[in-house]
Amino acid sequence: MTTMKTELADGVSFAPTSEQRELRALTREFAENEIRPKAAEYDEHRTHPADVIAKAHELGLMNVHLPEEVGGLGLPAFEGMLIGEELSWGCAGMAVSVVANTLGAAPVLLAGTDEQKREWLPPLIDSPILCSFALSEPDAGSDAARIKTTAERRGNEYVLNGSKMFITNAGHAAWSVVFASTDRAQGHRGLSAFVVPMVADGVVVERHLDKMGQRATDTSAFALNEVVVPAASRLGAEGDGFRIAMQTLDFTRPGTAAGAVGVAQAAYEYAVEYAKERVTFDVPIAMHQGVNFLIADMATEIEAARLLTWQAAWMLDSGYGRKATLYSSFAKRFAADTAMKVTTDAVQVFGGYGYIKEYPVEKLMRDAKLFQIYEGTSQIQRLVIAKEIFLPRGD
Ligand code: CAA
Repeated sequence: MTTMKTELADGVSFAPTSEQRELRALTREFAENEIRPKAAEYDEHRTHPADVIAKAHELGLMNVHLPEEVGGLGLPAFEGMLIGEELSWGCAGMAVSVVANTLGAAPVLLAGTDEQKREWLPPLIDSPILCSFALSEPDAGSDAARIKTTAERRGNEYVLNGSKMFITNAGHAAWSVVFASTDRAQGHRGLSAFVVPMVADGVVVERHLDKMGQRATDTSAFALNEVVVPAASRLGAEGDGFRIAMQTLDFTRPGTAAGAVGVAQAAYEYAVEYAKERVTFDVPIAMHQGVNFLIADMATEIEAARLLTWQAAWMLDSGYGRKATLYSSFAKRFAADTAMKVTTDAVQVFGGYGYIKEYPVEKLMRDAKLFQIYEGTSQIQRLVIAKEIFLPRGD
């Protein structure tokens, strides 16, 4: 019989420390006062939330995983989950604008030399600048190994050519980690990662994409036309790119799961309040089983998604290495699908009012959808989970 290695280390605690509770409360307050009041407007106008980013940066809610050596706080993955959930409770679009630096900076943290870390990371701490992670392309999203962007070595430089698609914050980023092939014949083993300044000659942001949800985050397409970068901007060795990308996603997928939990939590809270107030057949709709069973399921599934997310973060923080891959995908898959289900049911609880923009749950349902797509679709998470079951590679 095939069994999955899901055993954990000694000692299990579901209680955040007092410092973690304080961080959570601080982030909730920020989300309530600085994010929620702007959520509908920024969503409608696709506003890049530069003001919110600047305030979050000032408060220390950005780049929290960067180590002390480069001026950061060096917080563990778990704290990142707490921040991600609360910001996303305020507005998923603005939350992603704030936390996507984690995705952009992770390859530098994972594979950069000390010199590269000193060059690219401290500026993120000094001011609210953005960075991005450029893996996806017009013809390669789920099948990341098929990217067509090339990086050709010429002396002590590389020349990059290609197109990147669906890149969070790329339209406002100072630099991007660009994945490109240095050897097409080698498939995924021929991919390499480069830090590319977005002001470099030949980098052209072509489109700010007009999305269904999470509209307050910039998602852009950009081209690389004969972009020259020094060889010193390559992260790791030639051919390390695919592994760097996968390890980055192992680290960031639980954060995305936390964002999905935040959206689901917001929808649940709105649904509970509405169900207590709205009266049909002479009683609040919360008295009808058709409604309160929906809400009971929401509460249960949100809690399960949150616990899976916390467990994935805990695995990352406890040095489980490649074994965390499985838990990252458990969390991302379940939390994303839970957010979609909970927000859809919240719209159902609100009935016709849920479907119009005057009420907040319509936006939450649109925002939830993206969690099932970016950082690997729910189907890709199942693929990763299935591979870990049948072809386990974790040590
Ligand atoms: N850690 C380390 N190495 C890993 C790994 C991991 N988690 N996963 C795979 N690898 C290694 C394997 O060990 C294997 O190594 P070898 O070279 O020794 O063979 C190699 O990588 C290839 O692995 P697979 O055979 O499993 O690769 P695959 O081509 O079958 O596909 C996949 C793997 C999981 C489907 C991968 O392509 C994938 O994750 N796709 C989704 C991509 C994704 O999430 N994109 C999102 C982009 S970011 C974003 O959305 C945010 C934004 O800004 C919008």
